[in-house]
Amino acid sequence: MRTNTGQIVHLENYRPTDFVLERVDLTFELDPRETKVEARMIFHRREGVSPSAPLVLDGDELTMTGLLLDQVAVPGTLYEATDDTLTIRGLPEAAPFEITVTTAWSPETNTKLMGLYRTSDVYCTQCEAEGFRRITYFPDRPDVLAVYTVNIIADKASAPLLLSNGNYLGGADMGDGRHFASWFDPHPKPSYLFALVAGDLGVVEDAFTTASGRDVALNIYVEHGKEPRAAYAMDALKRSMKWDEEVFGREYDLDIFMIVAVSDFNMGAMENKGLNIFNDKYVLADPETATDADYANIEAIIAHEYFHNWTGNRITCRDWFQLCLKEGLTVYRDHEFSADMRSRAVKRIAEVRHLKSEQFPEDAGPLAHPVRPTQYREINNFYTTTVYEKGSEVTRMIATILGRDLFKKGMDLYFERHDGQAVTIEDFIACFEAASGRDLKQFSLWYHQAGTPLVTASGTYDAARQTYTLSLEQTVPPTPGQSSKAPMHIPLRFGLLLPDGSEARPSAVSGAEITGDVLHLTERKQTVTFSGIPSEPVPSFNRGFSAPVNLHLTQSAEHRALIARHETDLFARWQALNAMALDNLVKAAAEARTGQPIDCDDALVDALLAAAGDDRLEPAFRSQVLSLPSETDIGREIGSNNDPDAIYAGRQAILAAIATAGKDTFARLVNEMSLSGPFRPDADSAGRRALRNSGLSYLVYADGSPDKAADAFSSANNMTDLSQALTLLAHRFPDARETADALAVFKKRFADNALVIDKWFAIQATIPGASTLDRVRALMSDPLFNASNPNRVRSLVGTFAFANATGFNRIDGEGYRFLARQILDIDTRNPQLAARILTSMRSWRSLEKIRAGHARSALEEIARASNLSADVSDIVDRMLK
Ligand code: PHE
Ligand code: ZN
Repeated sequence: MRTNTGQIVHLENYRPTDFVLERVDLTFELDPRETKVEARMIFHRREGVSPSAPLVLDGDELTMTGLLLDQVAVPGTLYEATDDTLTIRGLPEAAPFEITVTTAWSPETNTKLMGLYRTSDVYCTQCEAEGFRRITYFPDRPDVLAVYTVNIIADKASAPLLLSNGNYLGGADMGDGRHFASWFDPHPKPSYLFALVAGDLGVVEDAFTTASGRDVALNIYVEHGKEPRAAYAMDALKRSMKWDEEVFGREYDLDIFMIVAVSDFNMGAMENKGLNIFNDKYVLADPETATDADYANIEAIIAHEYFHNWTGNRITCRDWFQLCLKEGLTVYRDHEFSADMRSRAVKRIAEVRHLKSEQFPEDAGPLAHPVRPTQYREINNFYTTTVYEKGSEVTRMIATILGRDLFKKGMDLYFERHDGQAVTIEDFIACFEAASGRDLKQFSLWYHQAGTPLVTASGTYDAARQTYTLSLEQTVPPTPGQSSKAPMHIPLRFGLLLPDGSEARPSAVSGAEITGDVLHLTERKQTVTFSGIPSEPVPSFNRGFSAPVNLHLTQSAEHRALIARHETDLFARWQALNAMALDNLVKAAAEARTGQPIDCDDALVDALLAAAGDDRLEPAFRSQVLSLPSETDIGREIGSNNDPDAIYAGRQAILAAIATAGKDTFARLVNEMSLSGPFRPDADSAGRRALRNSGLSYLVYADGSPDKAADAFSSANNMTDLSQALTLLAHRFPDARETADALAVFKKRFADNALVIDKWFAIQATIPGASTLDRVRALMSDPLFNASNPNRVRSLVGTFAFANATGFNRIDGEGYRFLARQILDIDTRNPQLAARILTSMRSWRSLEKIRAGHARSALEEIARASNLSADVSDIVDRMLK
């Protein structure tokens, strides 16, 4: 195996290619063991480039079997092929020329799942970011846009279906048991958007008529027999197409749009032009096997990939440093889509929870990097929550600062100006500056400075003058490679609530620009004075989480409760309750650690129960209120010297206090939220199920007996309720008979459904406590465990490391040693998967010193290993730096 230490790539070294690629003709002769590819590429030398400059193409683990220049063999003296490049000299000075490269390699042994590989007897590709170079030698970078024709030849019996990007040109039987098909994609595209699928799959067909009246065929391909489980994905696709027309004015641009679901995939899904390829987890759903969360994810990811057709494909990235140009923007678009399809406030709460539990820790640890990084060693490691989710938040802030209409004007200009181009973040920002006339220079720091800004606020009221003065201060913590930071433009939506719950209407404001309810914080320190405030107000900050910052505002439980009761922004109500809970959980962790009695604040219990029992509020919101900050959230708030066992113990005590005090409320919720009739996956029904299950989980807690959970398990008629009941049993009563029985029943019933079995593994991997490691080890020898399927590995090993704070962070360090061995093993097959799971240790420095010491040793053990992939070695080196 090749040891790849990876060279560091710097943004400042960007320059265009010497040669312009005009068109590409690819012919694939598919075979599991030896696939042959002929790539014909027409190039011309870019103006001004030296006539002696060679053509340098990228490659990765390729065997070249032929090389022609204008159909004549290139003599050995004029080219050099290494492991990762093909350099050709003696090329025409100005005239276009054709290079034909033929390669041969084995899809079957491609376990990295990059390039062309096999999954369940189907050929499929994954080319982003740098997978196309595993197919043929090619200028494999996003700023090389070309028009592709693809011919696919394969055995007709095993691969009746032959798909690639664009529109279908035709095909025929070849008379020798093989057949072929040709595809043409008229839209110039970079190689990372190339896709090919061949095999025997079932199809679900539908159609969509665009706003301008063009008919588009919609095909979703799945394994035979799974067609009914693609219905929801198809529905989500049609809604996405319509929404993009209505909200962003974007129409689809080919005759056909295809989605293929595969069971071995490194990521969630991929936006290849006209031929999206999905992890089947984000396509397949039915009530019996998918949870409400699965349905919501499918809707979001189908939308996300579809939206890439404009934000990513029609307008793409100049280089991989610009990844957030397509990802941050497209996540923002899919968030807005889901908000329109469901409850906006509840969607926002879920987004913020996710951002805080995934992105904030990344931004606070050794892997922190700017939304638009300036250097990387392995680009695969930059498909991060910072690029995606923080990138989306940054886009959202542009919309907040500009307001809806100017944001829309800026987007329209972006589509108009850059259609067909490969561009940069600077190009993107320039569109909003041009559309609005507003200078976004300081705002752009959000793309360049890593770290979550900390905003501290305090207020004083002057009753005589009827003024309220806010002192605001921002700091951005140091991050790797960036020790000092400039102040940012932070748009904070806010309200000043008066004691009766109404909102103060200041007669004048000085010290900050205010637009609507947005306060623009731009200085390191800013003092803002509001006049005409009749009594001391309670400030409610960061409504709708308008800026991705940590906000430190010391506020009493009573003031938080006032916000929770009266804010007009529903998100802000949840935020206040969440902050109140977090204060208490941090205190409880400290008490647990020092062996003091753990005190649960009555004000917290009252406020939570009041919101949970308030029938005027939607059930999904009330369920979010009842779901306390996670152990990760508490650890992040504490910041350093963390003891996961104490955090867990403190949290359990608070849960128990709420459960006891709220028995009647919870019993009522379980009754009232029960649904009858057939399962419906819509947001309202999902909200009722969520609230019912929250109530049930507190009731089970208060009871201290598995009976109610066991009953819920036997009576469940959908996967949401079933998996919740199983989780309750396993997490609360891991050693009970009822749990063992339920696990066995579940396994037997779903043994042939991989996605459900993933849940079975994940539920067990997250059982709290030190002994879960032994269970995880045992599960690895279960016949259903499969070390080469990414979903399965993630469900057991990944879930254990990412989501089991007490089990993984065992004080004896066994969890870390276990993970180190797993990483080294996975790395031999699939480096991307290994590197991603390893990021579960990104917060190791914030642990108390015994655990941190063990974590360091485990990381060092990985770093010392020979033959590490560039992926893993990049992550481990940054984590130890
Ligand atoms: N571009 C894909 C998406 O966000 C993610 C992806 C990256 C998939 C790299 C595969 C490989 O939608
Ligand atoms: Zn994306």
